[in-house]
Amino acid sequence: MCVKRKQVKPAPNELKTRSRRRNPITVLQEIQDEHGWLPQSALVQAADDLAVHLIKLHSIATFYDEFRLQPLGKHQITVCTGTACHVRGAPVIISELERNLGIEVGGVTSDQKFSLDTARCFGCCAVAPVVLADGKYHGRLTQKDVVPLLDSLESSEKVENDA
Ligand code: FES
Repeated sequence: MCVKRKQVKPAPNELKTRSRRRNPITVLQEIQDEHGWLPQSALVQAADDLAVHLIKLHSIATFYDEFRLQPLGKHQITVCTGTACHVRGAPVIISELERNLGIEVGGVTSDQKFSLDTARCFGCCAVAPVVLADGKYHGRLTQKDVVPLLDSLESSEKVENDA
């Protein structure tokens, strides 16, 4: 037999105490999951909830690569820098992307269209070098594939807008 328990809401002070015991990294991950990045207003609120200085959250956010202090571009490009991809030309792909987009790894174009990041091994090393663009893997990329890739991302945007 299943007995339904009555849910008891914690008192506001209890909630505050609970949130102060939470791991700041977990809180930052939740904020990033919600927004896709770490907006300043959310960091200020989190620092207050956790009863820590805002600078502590900024220190964590800048220490770990996974956290972003600015929003991603509409098109997200991630180049694998794992060993296989590095050996097979990822640095050349990265340079070509940086040159064409006018940004460095970790940056976002001024029109917010593209963001460029790196990651370590997507698990498809056999087709290195690999680039993940808008959730789709592109393997065996060469320097001359970069501009067509950027063009195809932009044209997919036009198709979306026309639909
Ligand atoms: S090293 Fe790039 S996919 Fe494994």
